Amino acid sequence: MKIRDLETPALIVLQDKMENNLSRMMMLLAGKKPRLRPHYKTHKSPHIAALQIQAGAKGITCSKLSEAEDLAAFGIRDILIANQVVQPAKVARLAQLARCCRLTVCVDDPGNVKALSDAARLAGSTIHCYVELEMGMQRCGIDDFEEFYRLAQYVDGMPGLTYDGIQAYAGNLSHEYDRAVRTEAAAAGEQKLRSLIAYLEARGVHSREVSGGSTGTAALKAGSTVYTELQAGSFMFMDASYGRMDLGFENALLAVCTVISAGKGRFVIDAGVKSLSPDQDPPAVVGFTAERISLSEEHTAFYGPHDFHVGDTVLVVPGHCCATVNLFDQLHFVRGDEVIARFPVTSRGKAQ
Ligand SMILES: Cc1ncc(COP(=O)(O)O)c(C=O)c1O
Repeated sequence: MKIRDLETPALIVLQDKMENNLSRMMMLLAGKKPRLRPHYKTHKSPHIAALQIQAGAKGITCSKLSEAEDLAAFGIRDILIANQVVQPAKVARLAQLARCCRLTVCVDDPGNVKALSDAARLAGSTIHCYVELEMGMQRCGIDDFEEFYRLAQYVDGMPGLTYDGIQAYAGNLSHEYDRAVRTEAAAAGEQKLRSLIAYLEARGVHSREVSGGSTGTAALKAGSTVYTELQAGSFMFMDASYGRMDLGFENALLAVCTVISAGKGRFVIDAGVKSLSPDQDPPAVVGFTAERISLSEEHTAFYGPHDFHVGDTVLVVPGHCCATVNLFDQLHFVRGDEVIARFPVTSRGKAQ
């Protein structure tokens, strides 16, 4: 089947470029301290997770318990849920899941730690824990060192749990477009981590792992002497948003769309916010510079001089690859203009 025969909108993955991105990331980290634990949120496909493991990733990062369940069912053995899981029913499920894979979860609350320990004891499993440090994103995590120490020590003493280290994700830096600001803030984050690690060591708590980082900070984290894991996800596919940052990874994900209306100075494609997530940047048509873009649910209008006609196929770079993939059932792998494989987006919509 050719790309032009796909019913649109459809998502295609340029297999060679995706593989190049993965190789480039492995080369970036070769011989360095941090090992790749790529984030599942980008592709939500266990098939691609398996390719990442084959390429040398130590395990997979995901956001949700239901994603971890999909990964474990596919045979992925080392899974980090880079998030807090607190609902009682989910805590019980998490403890069960920890029986069949090495499962790590983030914590920042003693009540949650107690609940995880009780559930692990009941299930006869071990749950690995990263205590989350607030790194400037103002999302989850503990800022105060003494409070961090007390929680880490509490985790360490709880049956069914182990304290493995620190979740240190500074998402506020991922899309910092000023390289000097990004570099300086990343260095300040490392300094904070070094101080915390020393504070904990002085009190007898050893942090074996320090996990975090993103596509936007991968090059900075590669040389880190503190981080042991890099959680980058988007580098596999890239998108319009990261494409502005000259990170050395190539665009490997495109939406194939059809022009459904064309007039003077404006054309409209058959995909809007229900197919192309604009939460970070609007989508961009390959080979066309828009003066203005307007999205509705099932349409995107591009304004500016053009010579598109109704029925034309256009290739579109999604604004945000991770949020866009979650809107599709399938990824079509292509080489040249040939569709060579199709993989389900197994964990799309798995938000629980
Ligand atoms: C916990 C966590 N780790 C890592 C990432 C980095 O992902 P990316 O490389 O796609 O920016 C994210 C992005 O949302 C995240 O939430």
